[in-house]
Amino acid sequence: MKCMQAQYAQRGPDPVAVIEAVEVELAAPRAGEVLVEILASPINPSDLLTLTGVYGVLPELPAVAGNEGVGRVAELGPGVTGLKPGQLVLLPLGCGTWASHVAARAAELVPLPAGADPQQLAMLTINPPTASLLLSEVTPLQPGDWVIQNAANSAVGTYLVKLAAERGIHTINVVRREGAVESVQAAGGEIVLVDGDDLKKRVRQATGGAEIKLAIDAVGGAATERLANCLANGGTVVNYGVMSGEPCHVSPTHLIFRGINLTGFWLATWYARAGAEQRAALYGDLTQRIARGELKAPIAECFDIRDIKQAVAAAAQGERGGKVLITPRHNS
Ligand SMILES: NC(=O)c1ccc[n+]([C@@H]2O[C@H](COP(=O)([O-])OP(=O)(O)OC[C@H]3O[C@@H](n4cnc5c(N)ncnc54)[C@H](OP(=O)(O)O)[C@@H]3O)[C@@H](O)[C@H]2O)c1
Repeated sequence: MKCMQAQYAQRGPDPVAVIEAVEVELAAPRAGEVLVEILASPINPSDLLTLTGVYGVLPELPAVAGNEGVGRVAELGPGVTGLKPGQLVLLPLGCGTWASHVAARAAELVPLPAGADPQQLAMLTINPPTASLLLSEVTPLQPGDWVIQNAANSAVGTYLVKLAAERGIHTINVVRREGAVESVQAAGGEIVLVDGDDLKKRVRQATGGAEIKLAIDAVGGAATERLANCLANGGTVVNYGVMSGEPCHVSPTHLIFRGINLTGFWLATWYARAGAEQRAALYGDLTQRIARGELKAPIAECFDIRDIKQAVAAAAQGERGGKVLITPRHNS
């Protein structure tokens, strides 16, 4: 059958230039495989870093882009049991989800609750577990503790606000522009501040001088230093993103005289280390909450595969109102 894929044959500094929508002939699913009609797949910052060649793992070329997503079972290959046509499924990480269809191993598909929003579930695999683990894996946190995060209007930031509140952890949410404040407040952000040189002073005023144990940094550059400056002595900065494209700046004054720790977090490392039971517990819980609508991230725009260049351009732009999703058209 004919299928549309967003492919790239080379990596380069401009992600829009390297990505192409291509029509290909897809063979019928083989033994143990399932043909899945893809319903939704996000464009995450890591997808853009993969296209530009600066991500932590890079697929062999040529490749079909897209890491995570959700689809509907279209056809079962020989010998497949336990799945049925029409069933909503979570696609395995890294299977090339910016496509109208994909043939995937049946054993790697996770059945999803019928009737749940496929667009929200399409964003399940990467950002919600990252937000959850940033709060549990870096430093011990108790109810009543304070954390500070930047890029708080990002998808990770939005999930983190909600998950922290559920655990009784207070959040100070930093955004880089006034226009992003409202969306973080609407997501439940207790304290939302625009980044700036006087951040520490404003954090003190807003929290009444609370001790902040953990700073969660998606930006790097001078933004890391501004978060470090807000921490209590002995606190930790965890960097998990590189939105500024700059190395993390943390003054030796913090590291030497205040005992501030600087560390990193990558979901892939946790995933490789965690046991199957631990992974299943985390993903099972997050799936149910997203399916029930308790956890969600804003969506800015949806694009067909044929418009992949516009989609990637939109995702690469700052100041979005949420995620850019690929939602392939299936009837043309
Ligand atoms: N380490 C891991 O395992 C892991 C896992 C998942 C995600 N991540 C990382 O987490 C970060 C957030 O991902 P996401 O999918 O939640 O992001 P997203 O929803 O696409 O949002 C991007 C965020 O970055 C901000 N931003 C963009 N350019 C910036 C710049 N030059 N300086 C400062 N802020 C900037 C945006 O602010 P505006 O709205 O103002 O543009 C927005 O808050 C990314 O860096 C991603 O790579 C890491």
